[in-house]
Amino acid sequence: MKIAVLPGDGIGPEIVAEALKVLDQFRSEGASIETEAGDIGGIAVDRHGDPLPSSTLAFCRKADAILFGSIGGPKYDTLPRELRPERGLLRLRKELDLFANLRPAQVFPELADASSLKPEIVSGLDIMIVRELTGDIYFGEPRGISRNAAGERVGTNTMVYSESEIRRVVHWGFQAARERRKSLCSVDKMNVLETTQLWRDVVNEIAPDYPDVTLTHMLVDNAAMQLVRNPRQFDVIVTGNMFGDILSDEASMLTGSIGMLPSASLNATGQGLYEPIHGSAPDIAGRGIANPLAQILSVSMMFRYSFKRADLADRVDVAVRRVLQQGFRTADIARKGETAAGTAAMGDAVVAALRAQ
Ligand code: IPM
Ligand code: MG
Repeated sequence: MKIAVLPGDGIGPEIVAEALKVLDQFRSEGASIETEAGDIGGIAVDRHGDPLPSSTLAFCRKADAILFGSIGGPKYDTLPRELRPERGLLRLRKELDLFANLRPAQVFPELADASSLKPEIVSGLDIMIVRELTGDIYFGEPRGISRNAAGERVGTNTMVYSESEIRRVVHWGFQAARERRKSLCSVDKMNVLETTQLWRDVVNEIAPDYPDVTLTHMLVDNAAMQLVRNPRQFDVIVTGNMFGDILSDEASMLTGSIGMLPSASLNATGQGLYEPIHGSAPDIAGRGIANPLAQILSVSMMFRYSFKRADLADRVDVAVRRVLQQGFRTADIARKGETAAGTAAMGDAVVAALRAQ
């Protein structure tokens, strides 16, 4: 298993260090795991003047999987767009054609009361968002800020999807649904946007291939509302890049903390990038208090999707459940008055739980 490790900025290096402890544990049990670390994001701008240095891209191409921390920080927000840390991540997704982004949102029973929604609304929640990741308004041309004839500044982005881009990710959605509760909700804005009318048409064309999956369509504004009104109606949601970005942050809050949610971004060869869905959290970086569980659960997804090692993935998932049962809580999921574990203590607890299995 050849893994490129890109810790990035902010809390990235702190939580990636905990995920590496998990890899070390499996290595000590005999698993053949090779890791190579590289720079991406702000740290790469500082060291190489490029948020995705060619050396990083080259060894990511050769890796089976990429373990990614997080990128960005206030220090970089005023740089020209090409040099912003986010651009490094977006380029990496695009270069490796990581079009299928899987973002599970699950409520752990131990954390049902950590959600801002009532426990009876969220308990048992288990949603998988399949977000398209290499198209849409994120990458569409033309884009930019220019001046119109009146000399006024005008900002432009282009929302665009070809049918093949839609088709390949929608297949992922149907297949994910098939392996779960067999219900797929496709989210669009076809009442206003032609590009998402095409999205809906293509989804309907594919549906007959999956007679065992129940398909519904929902407009994105309604989906945003339904996610807080009755989130358990959803099994798998499939949607475009922009809507998926927004809905997955919303879904994460149902689970209590954005610090708990991993993601996988896959291409057609099974190569994948695994990252927490949260950002670099500059406000808490360097203090050793960040929750490493989203990063550790990203390792679980890596075993499951890139290495087809469901056995190891299950062990990580069970270990995370175990530490939550044991009462370990980082600050983001601790109840008022509860003493919170630090980042390293949480990582150590997961490794101890793995050893005890
Ligand atoms: C995410 C993030 C990224 C995105 C940013 C950091 C570019 O919000 O992975 O959801 O918008 O895709
Ligand atoms: Mg996002």
